[in-house]
Order: sequence, then structure tokens, then C-alpha cells
Amino acid sequence: MEQISITDTTISQGEAEIAQRLLGWYDQNARQMPWRVPPHDHAVGVRADSYHVWLSEVMLQQTQVATVQNYFRRFIERWPTIEELAHEDEEEVLKEWAGLGYYSRARNLKKCADTIIRDHAGVFPRTMDALINLPGIGEYTAAAIAAIAFDEPATVMDGNIERVMARLFRITTPFPEAKPQTRELLSGILDQERPGEFAQAMMDLGATICTPRKPQCLICPLAGLCSANSKGDVADFPRKMPKKTKPTRKGAAFVFQRNDGAVLLRKRGDRGLLAGMSEVPTTDWNSRQDGATGVSSAPIDANWELKGQVRHTFTHFHLALEVWHSSADEVQDLEGWWSVPENLPSEALPTVFKKVIELALTEAAKPRAK
Ligand code: ADE
Repeated sequence: MEQISITDTTISQGEAEIAQRLLGWYDQNARQMPWRVPPHDHAVGVRADSYHVWLSEVMLQQTQVATVQNYFRRFIERWPTIEELAHEDEEEVLKEWAGLGYYSRARNLKKCADTIIRDHAGVFPRTMDALINLPGIGEYTAAAIAAIAFDEPATVMDGNIERVMARLFRITTPFPEAKPQTRELLSGILDQERPGEFAQAMMDLGATICTPRKPQCLICPLAGLCSANSKGDVADFPRKMPKKTKPTRKGAAFVFQRNDGAVLLRKRGDRGLLAGMSEVPTTDWNSRQDGATGVSSAPIDANWELKGQVRHTFTHFHLALEVWHSSADEVQDLEGWWSVPENLPSEALPTVFKKVIELALTEAAKPRAK
């Protein structure tokens, strides 16, 4: 490739062309998202709000764009500024986060908002180095905020971008081992003038055209520059190391229900999986061990009925939970609180416990008429 010089960086013509073609495509095809500034507004100097970029990037870390959009809108409506979020109780943030998973993200969100108010006068720092020291902000999120909110030339690499890069450069090393090499190649092609839009264009290309299965190379703006496309083996990339199989853990969950339909809930501990979230009483399962099963493991004697099984997958294990239900008159000396049906949707219940309660309350378990 012919070498050309742009400012103080030397990149090859083919590499510069990648960014040019990609951004030309993005100008016409950028997906609209509530935290984004469209390319024509960016071109006249409008920039995304750093609070919005941060919130969306934290939500998007382990969750699909389609799911994040509604959560994002609700958060922004309820806490329009980072000050308002910082002044809220953690409990309320966890409730609004319920269903998104990876709940340490929500606790770190609150801690990060507190830190921004306390140590940064309510304003996000602009650089990777400063951003990465904030709670819950790792290398990816720091780069995304620096690039998207502040146009800093940071290297943003998520799963979509890895796939595009693996095909574009026909990276034969399997992932995740290939990450450092990929990052280096990426930093060589990113657009120094529009780094945030370059990153989002790569993400959009990965999500809509350079998809994991059946990529649409015929309409890809980078097809003519793509090594795997020219060899005809796009489907063989990215190469991946074989995944470890996840163990399946067992346990039991107990849905205790008063005559008015209220369900007994309690708060999980401050550490570990689903820390600080709400739950129905359950046995002691975690990623490393099974919990007890069977009616003898119930927190109190009652007329327990087995309603079935809920299965749920966490990062490192599958969980199979027996779901037990019992109707109850008010019972003294039980840890927790009674949540009436109208309040259940706004409790900080992780998805696994929503599934448990839903199963327990099917058919016979609806509130009894007085
Ligand atoms: N995934 C993570 N960040 C994103 C963004 N800004 N746009 C689209 N998808 C994303």
C-alpha cells in the first residue's frame, strides 16, 4: 500500500479509505438512538451529552440495543441530569435497573455519579486516563465516552467491531487471544477527525451488515477492501477459542403468598451475585455450589406445593430452581416485607425471580376472594 502522511500519523492509502468509505456509509445509514447525535448535526458542531453517552454505554455493556432503548428513556426521564441521579438512593436506581441484569453495573452507576459530583464538579472528564479511574468504567467504556462524547481519538472495540476487523484483515488468531493485535490494527484505521462516529459506524456495520451469520457482503461499503471477502471465506471469521461449558446449579425458591396476593420478599446481601437486589426466600446456590432442594429446605413449615422449575442462565452457570408456593396468613418473625401485586413490578427483582414469581402465581395461586 502507498504510504501517505496525515498530520503526524502515517497511514496507508488503503487504510485511510476504510474510514472514508465507512463514514460515507454511516452518513446515510446511521441508526437512530436516543443517546446519539445524527451525523448531519455532528457535522455542524452538535455533540452528544456525556451523561447520555455514559449511561447508554454502561447499559449496552451486556445488553442488546433494543432492550436498552426503553430503560435509557426511563432513566433520563426520571433523572434528567447526573446531579439528580447522584442525589437518588441506590435502592431506587436498582429498582429502575431491574431486568437489565449484571446489577453491579447499577451500583457502580450510582457510585460514579456520586464521584462526578464530588470530585469533578459535576462534569465528566474528557480523557481515557481520567475516565478509567471512575467506578464501573473499564477500558471499553472509557474509550467509548472519550470518542463519542468528546471526539478524542480513542480505540473503541466491542464484539461487533472485533468481528468486522477479523474479517476485514482476515485475522487468523482466535479471539480473545487476537484482541491486542486487533486493537492495534483498529487504532491504525480509526478516523482522527470523527473518532466517535467511526466507532459507532463500525458498530452499526457489525450489527446490520457484517452480522455473525449471513453477512450481507453485497451491500457492504467495505467489501472491496475486505481480505476475507476477497478470499471468499468471510463465514470463517472471527476465529474463536472453544468455549468452556457452564455447570448447571440447582436450588429451590419459596413463594409465600398472603390472602390479599402479597408476596414475601427479602433483600439479598451486599456482596456477590445479584447483590442488593430483592428476592423470594431461596436456598443457598451460587456459581460454585448447588443449593438445597426439596420442601424440607423451606424457610418455615407451610402447605408448600411444587409449581415447577425455572431455568435461568448467568455468565458462569445455568440455574435450575424448583419453585414452591404456599398461601399464608400473616406470619410473624420472617425476614423481609410483603409486596402487594400492584407493587411487584416496581420491586428490584432480577429476571430470575420475576420468572419464579410468575410461575408460582399461575392458576390456583391467584389472590383468594374474601
Ligand atoms: N453498542 C455499544 N455502544 C453502542 C453505540 N453507541 N451505538 C450502537 N451500539 C452500541
